[in-house]
Amino acid sequence: MKKQILMALTVASATILAGCATSKTGQITATPFGADSSGAPVKLFTLRNASGATATICNYGGLVTSLKMPDKRGQFGDVVLGYDNVADYIKSSPYFGALVGRYGNRIALGQFTLDGKQYTLATNNVPNSLHGGVKGFDKVMWSAKCYQSADGPSLELTYLSHDGEEGYPGNLSVTAVYTLTDDNSLKLVYTATTDKATVLNLTHHSYFNLAGKGDILNHSVMIPADKFTPVDSTLIPTGELKPVAGTPFDFRTPTTIGARIGQDDDQLKFGKGYDHNWVINKPTGEMGLMARVTEPTSGRVLEVYSAEPGLQFYSGNFLDGTLTGKGGWVYQFRNAFCMEPQHFPDSPNQPSFPSVVLRPGETYHNTIIYKFSVQP
Ligand code: BGC
Repeated sequence: MKKQILMALTVASATILAGCATSKTGQITATPFGADSSGAPVKLFTLRNASGATATICNYGGLVTSLKMPDKRGQFGDVVLGYDNVADYIKSSPYFGALVGRYGNRIALGQFTLDGKQYTLATNNVPNSLHGGVKGFDKVMWSAKCYQSADGPSLELTYLSHDGEEGYPGNLSVTAVYTLTDDNSLKLVYTATTDKATVLNLTHHSYFNLAGKGDILNHSVMIPADKFTPVDSTLIPTGELKPVAGTPFDFRTPTTIGARIGQDDDQLKFGKGYDHNWVINKPTGEMGLMARVTEPTSGRVLEVYSAEPGLQFYSGNFLDGTLTGKGGWVYQFRNAFCMEPQHFPDSPNQPSFPSVVLRPGETYHNTIIYKFSVQP
């Protein structure tokens, strides 16, 4: 019996490895990446596209641990922050490269009411709940499967979040598929279903630095949004949709991150810089450009596309030199930025914001594309 179980396990792990390690084109490989806190083995999957760009992603947290894209001279360089080993991610990570859920961003005081019932969440970002709570989707093991899709090598990650996990209702079945396409896009497609009404706001949390070093103040940003959602001192939206015109939040024409970040502005003070949600100028549910970021020395350009109504642009204001990442890079204040397509923060408590409620029988969809290119 024991022998049979052992054989079955060996066959199962060989099958998983065969799917990932020796795909027809050799574009997906799986390598060991340590273990999680329970001792379960963590794997690192490397997706390589036809142009030689690579994305490495692990099944712990669905973390993108490296993303190597060409610069204007054709040199490949890593454009995301992270660590060399999973132990450092487990020890302390501000969501480097993570799949974020169930609720990306903040829920005020860790409370919301749905269909007349009140739910209480962990207040892990006092006094609010942040990024799904104490053990969000960034800290769980996902089941992994690799395949070649029409667009390029894909890694499919699945996770079943149990009813009551981190305080959220409903057994939630989530699939996240990463694909590295031949046009140098990292595409992430989320789908989810639930067996009880719940709230859901999934996003992605890579910390980008298109130069691969230094601060990001010289990166130029364009966000097609006439309005943003101003926040209180705990970064919870006030409910107002405020015009960006005449404020440091107007990125409708490309402007460097550093140009106005130091202005005497209450909103900038609350976030210690940019840490806000922009209301993108397009109908919710319609795929479109959410941001374009360019970096002059490398010539790299990042375009972010999604069908979500909002974009959280975070300028790495809580990086403070206490974390040392890949290759010994000490991550200092504003050494990276995040672009997180999502629903507006605290939507479960803001009836005027687009709804984040998912009900049984419905399927949640969210596609996020990070597209890289170069300009002279
Ligand atoms: C939030 C920041 C937070 C960071 C966590 C971002 O999505 O907007 O306020 O500090 O995640 O690393």
